[in-house]
Amino acid sequence: MVIRDDLVDALQAARAVVVLTGAGVSAESGIPTFRDAREGLWAKYDPLELATPEAFDRDPETVARWYDWRREKCAAAKPNPAHRALAGLEKQLAARERGFTLLTQNVDRLHQAAGSENVVELHGTLWVWRCTRCGVEHEERDVPFREYPPRCACGGARRPGVVWFGELLPEQALQQAHDALEACDFFFSIGTSAVVEPAASFIHAARRRGAKTVEINRDPTPISNAVDWSMPGKAGEILPALCKRTFAI
Ligand code: OAD
Repeated sequence: MVIRDDLVDALQAARAVVVLTGAGVSAESGIPTFRDAREGLWAKYDPLELATPEAFDRDPETVARWYDWRREKCAAAKPNPAHRALAGLEKQLAARERGFTLLTQNVDRLHQAAGSENVVELHGTLWVWRCTRCGVEHEERDVPFREYPPRCACGGARRPGVVWFGELLPEQALQQAHDALEACDFFFSIGTSAVVEPAASFIHAARRRGAKTVEINRDPTPISNAVDWSMPGKAGEILPALCKRTFAI
């Protein structure tokens, strides 16, 4: 794997790093991505039947069971070298009083399990469920559920605290993302197909701000030609090597 010297120099000089991650970062932990042609979740399941508010209204049991199946997969998963490298990068940058914000589209909380601290969950998390009647959120760590859908103390059905198709991103997460992008001088896009908005446009905001940009992804994406450094391959191999070269971690 070639890690260019100019990339290492630019990362060493960075004052405020923003990292955007997607499902590809958790793939090496055994969690399926969405758009892989054979193994991706959306190749096997219809998102309109499972990941919309209308689907939950129509058939809350099926939707809750599917999300519980995903919770079980995530509960069994461990952070991989990509998650750990990003947590190490955050610590190295913090020690140098540099900024670091991790914007993730992932709902599995493996970044936090690896030790990342400044994490913004753009698409919510599988571990918090929200009552559709009273709105109260509840951390749901036990797997599997005992009933589908799980019920709130008020008797209402709880839905997963993730963002579904047709829904807006959590306002606070979006604001944090915008603030971080406004301030960043170095931007990574890692393990995301870069097709789902608004995250797909973050690269452009970072570029407008004058940030240096890197993509680490197994396959080419719509932004591969727009970044300063495109690194094709596995995040769990490239990130540890890049961090070792840059900060000897
Ligand atoms: P996708 O499944 O669309 O894309 C995953 C990307 O990761 C692909 O480009 C793969 O080539 C790449 N990839 C796979 N394994 C990798 C590895 N080991 N190292 C590096 N890259 C790898 O997933 P996302 O981009 O995260 O939203 O999808 C974005 C959103 O679409 C998800 O958050 C989800 C989905 O619909 C909601 O559910 C709201």
